[in-house]
Amino acid sequence: MSDKKEAGKLFPPTEELKKMSLVGGPEGYKKMYEESIRDPPAFWEKMSDNLDWFSKDWDSVFNWDKESGHFTWFKGGKLNVSYNCLDRHVLNGKKNQAAIIWEGDDPNETRVLTYGELLTEVEKFANVLKSKGVQKGDRVSVYLPMIPELAITLLACTRIGAIHSVVFSAFSAEALFNRIDDCASKLLVTTDGGYRGGKKVDIKGNANEALEKCPTVKDVIVVRRTGADVYMEEGRDTWWHDEMEKAPKKCEPEKMDAEDPLFILYTSGSTGKPKGVLHTTGGYLLQTQLSFQYVFNYRPGEVYWCTADVGWITGHSYIVYGPLSAGATTLMFEGVPNYPGLDRFWDVAEKWKVDIFYTAPTAVRMMRKTGEQWPKMHDLSSIRLLGSVGEPIDPEAWLWYHDVIGGGRCPIVDTWWQTETGSIMIAPLPGVTTLKPGCATNPMFGIEPLVCLEDRTVCKPGEDGRLFIKKPWPSQARTIWGDHQRYMDTYWNVIPGHYFTGDGGRMDADGDIWILGRVDDVISVAGHRIGAAEVEAAFLTHPAVAEAAVVPVPDEIKGEAIYTFVTLKDGYSESEDLRKALINQVRKEVGPIATPKTVQFTTGLPKTRSGKIMRRILRKIAGGGMHEDLGDVSTLAEPEVVDVLIKGRIL
Ligand code: PRX
Repeated sequence: MSDKKEAGKLFPPTEELKKMSLVGGPEGYKKMYEESIRDPPAFWEKMSDNLDWFSKDWDSVFNWDKESGHFTWFKGGKLNVSYNCLDRHVLNGKKNQAAIIWEGDDPNETRVLTYGELLTEVEKFANVLKSKGVQKGDRVSVYLPMIPELAITLLACTRIGAIHSVVFSAFSAEALFNRIDDCASKLLVTTDGGYRGGKKVDIKGNANEALEKCPTVKDVIVVRRTGADVYMEEGRDTWWHDEMEKAPKKCEPEKMDAEDPLFILYTSGSTGKPKGVLHTTGGYLLQTQLSFQYVFNYRPGEVYWCTADVGWITGHSYIVYGPLSAGATTLMFEGVPNYPGLDRFWDVAEKWKVDIFYTAPTAVRMMRKTGEQWPKMHDLSSIRLLGSVGEPIDPEAWLWYHDVIGGGRCPIVDTWWQTETGSIMIAPLPGVTTLKPGCATNPMFGIEPLVCLEDRTVCKPGEDGRLFIKKPWPSQARTIWGDHQRYMDTYWNVIPGHYFTGDGGRMDADGDIWILGRVDDVISVAGHRIGAAEVEAAFLTHPAVAEAAVVPVPDEIKGEAIYTFVTLKDGYSESEDLRKALINQVRKEVGPIATPKTVQFTTGLPKTRSGKIMRRILRKIAGGGMHEDLGDVSTLAEPEVVDVLIKGRIL
């Protein structure tokens, strides 16, 4: 979390950066921002010229029925996402420019796909999907690691108007099953396996297990990556390379309405069931493209590298759609930062002469811990801009990133946004914003943040509150798949007409926004969103568990880690073996990213008289708090449980 004193140090833009700014420096930004807030539809209509439309005959740029929470941007306008990401660049002389630079887990394995080549692959795979009967509006689930076929699959879906739903490849069979089942996908694209840090990982095994319970999936296309001997079901599973060999080379892009669904991406919320966040076509693409250009101040010819996985929103918006729509060269990395050596990131950055490097604070903290000698082994002078995303970056990590990786010369864009917002909402702009370590600073065009107390009063400068955004913007998620009421209750009914972010925030005296972390039961482990309720539900699938309560604890590298309090059913007693079995159960149910750091067995949990678990108290206990730090515990049904928990705490 950012330091209350605001870390003191300021980094104003240099004159050189101001000259390079795509928005005309601080004055240009101010003028454009004011225009965007005065009349957002007029602003976005002007901006819509950045995309190629088959038809711009929208009824109205923006329509909002506040009561139902339905809103539209550019409805009636027609476009195609793959056309905007590929064809138009090929037609504009970029056929031979690298679209995707792919660097494998093994440094000797690389692949460069030009815009021309990527278009051909996408058209072919779109034809494969069609040959399997996939039609506009059908759901296609994607369970692939960071290989080019992942980007090809997404773009192929958009070419024919199928809705993709990517499931992070390290999620478990159960998590995959839930995500396929919820949106009733017709087809799954997966692989025989993947590579991570030199080791083979099984992916098809998980897919097979999930598919046993997924009757809607009629076809499975399998990319051969590791050559592992995998079970292929007759009549259902076919190999990617066999299908591609047969596929015709040309596939006309489908004319999609701006409001047609583009993709679903599941994310964690405060109940056990993940939310299928739905994004639509026109507004999403427009805002991801523009934010990509402005936040990274992207200039033609530059190599841009975002280290996220396409299994998360960052990869969707800022590895695939934003950069490709802008005609950029995007680097896609299959590996991990510490293989084959601790200098891997810097080896890749030097090898491909990366200009823009965008990563997560957890990676920065890890690099800081392992030491300067690793980046110092490489020439990083090509880097001119650094980015951070996924969690608050503490000022110390920020300063290290700035000095050691950026050589003191590169601005850092600390970008705040979410799966639901689709694109970057609050971030400094290079050549515009005075940087403050740990601060997300300014809203993007068309975005009006508001910090309020629980009673809805607007916070004074410097006062901590909850972060809202006034009114819908083009790349905002339209609904939760199959549960519009949950969408309304989670985001729009907290303060009617305002979007509730779930984050704490503070506006300082300069009007800059500081993000203070989640205020709900969402835990951010290494920048990955994990619902406390999802992990609790996983514990409960073990026969020994009567009750489980999951809370975050601060972690030096991962930002937050998972601490669990477990009560056992009668007939079971605590043991190291049981602890291990419970941890494995969570890994199996949710995936390794949700591995609990600590499991504390207990005989009871602090509850209100109505039976609600008091997580506020558990958070403090897990974090090392003593009885006197816990506030009023007299309203608990059994106040004495608190001392038992403190005594049994595992630090
Ligand atoms: O708590 C905020 C944190 O990540 C949450 C969104 O997670 P997700 O939907 O998985 O998207 C992550 C990548 C965009 C937010 O509610 N978060 C994201 N970026 C920042 C951040 N917290 C502080 N500073 C950021 N720059």
